[in-house]
Amino acid sequence: MTDTSKRGFTTNQLHAGANPDPATGARNTPIYQSTAFVFDSPEHAAKLFSLQEVGYIYSRLTNPTVGALQERIAALEGGAGAVCCSSGHAAQIMALFPLMGPGKNVVASTRLYGGTLTQFSQTIKRFGWSAKFVDFDDTQAIADAIDDDTRAIFCESIANPGGYITDLDAVANVADKAGIPLIVDNTTATPYLCNPIEHGATLVVHSTTKYLTGNGSVTGGVVVDSGKFDWMATDKFPSLSKPEPAYHGLVFAEALGPMAFTFHGIAIGLRDLGMTMNPQGAHYTLMGIETLSLRMREHVKNAKIVASWLESNEHVEAVTYAGLPSSPYHSRVEKICPKGAGGLFTVQLKGGHEACVKLIENLELFSHVANLGDAKSLIIHPASTTHSQLTDEEKIAAGAAPNLVRVSIGIEDSDDLIADLEQALNS
Ligand SMILES: Cc1ncc(COP(=O)(O)O)c(C=O)c1O
Repeated sequence: MTDTSKRGFTTNQLHAGANPDPATGARNTPIYQSTAFVFDSPEHAAKLFSLQEVGYIYSRLTNPTVGALQERIAALEGGAGAVCCSSGHAAQIMALFPLMGPGKNVVASTRLYGGTLTQFSQTIKRFGWSAKFVDFDDTQAIADAIDDDTRAIFCESIANPGGYITDLDAVANVADKAGIPLIVDNTTATPYLCNPIEHGATLVVHSTTKYLTGNGSVTGGVVVDSGKFDWMATDKFPSLSKPEPAYHGLVFAEALGPMAFTFHGIAIGLRDLGMTMNPQGAHYTLMGIETLSLRMREHVKNAKIVASWLESNEHVEAVTYAGLPSSPYHSRVEKICPKGAGGLFTVQLKGGHEACVKLIENLELFSHVANLGDAKSLIIHPASTTHSQLTDEEKIAAGAAPNLVRVSIGIEDSDDLIADLEQALNS
């Protein structure tokens, strides 16, 4: 097998996980549109079901097109393995599922995508799980929030909507001391700009819906495991370190070593929760990911130009882009995202909420949608949409106050983006 760690990022985004199809020679990874895969023999079937042999059984669990994408993303993130899911939100549940149980909690950043804040503050309560939210710039507050029932720490590398950068090394240090896995949502940075595993993350999750696909065509998610956490070192993670009753008593960490979390995600997570990515969706993401580094360079270049133009505009109160020297997060760019601070930030307007609505109405190139990471430029008013379930206080803590819009800068010609913003701000 090719050692992808010896190849460059752009080579891996094109080649990792996929060779020309061995059956037909097809150069592009085929869409294996099949629910089930024929066993060689009853013995072969039994071996696949007992994980003695790895292969394809049924597409709720594994599928060759989805498998190619899993390997590719694992290579790009520098992980041991990856499991694709139906959406970014599904990936978050899939990441927490082997770790949590009734009464257990996750310590999470106050600066997260609004949907994640709601998923964690409301929906996971139905499983008996809970979340404690703290300011992740305050590492002591993170340490103080961890208790005997904490099973994970969760943050975004570049936080949506503000584009703020998390000091992953500092957070990983707190997680290490507590013996708790750190989960990083790397959606807005992508592995091209940030490698959370290099900064100490145990697990990385993505909404592949965003930059990884890059054209706003499909929803998807992925959980990447670093393979580095010692699940046997503590009795806090019995699903991985003790006989798992949901899989005839298999001790995943003992049997599968660094692939324990990944196999648990497939054999139990996908099998029983069924949040599976379909092969057609995986195909679109495989196509998109081939140009990830090229697109991210353009996103960063344009975001810098547009953010500095906006910062000096008379109608603008403030711009939160960490790529600007005025940002309090600017000093972290070099360390956490050395290739740039991404393409997402917020713009506070002097005219408040009303001016935000007018700006959105008057833009022509920017699309008003609830998405980010498209090659096309996008805009939204988070306080009344993506973060609308939050209290006013939570909105401000998340960086989604009512007087701002979030922009996801695309890869159009930057002059055209500025011209569009100028005419909309002036009108
Ligand atoms: C940072 C971040 N994480 C996760 C998600 C959820 O992803 P999905 O919409 O694919 O479920 C989003 C969606 O906007 C997001 O912005």
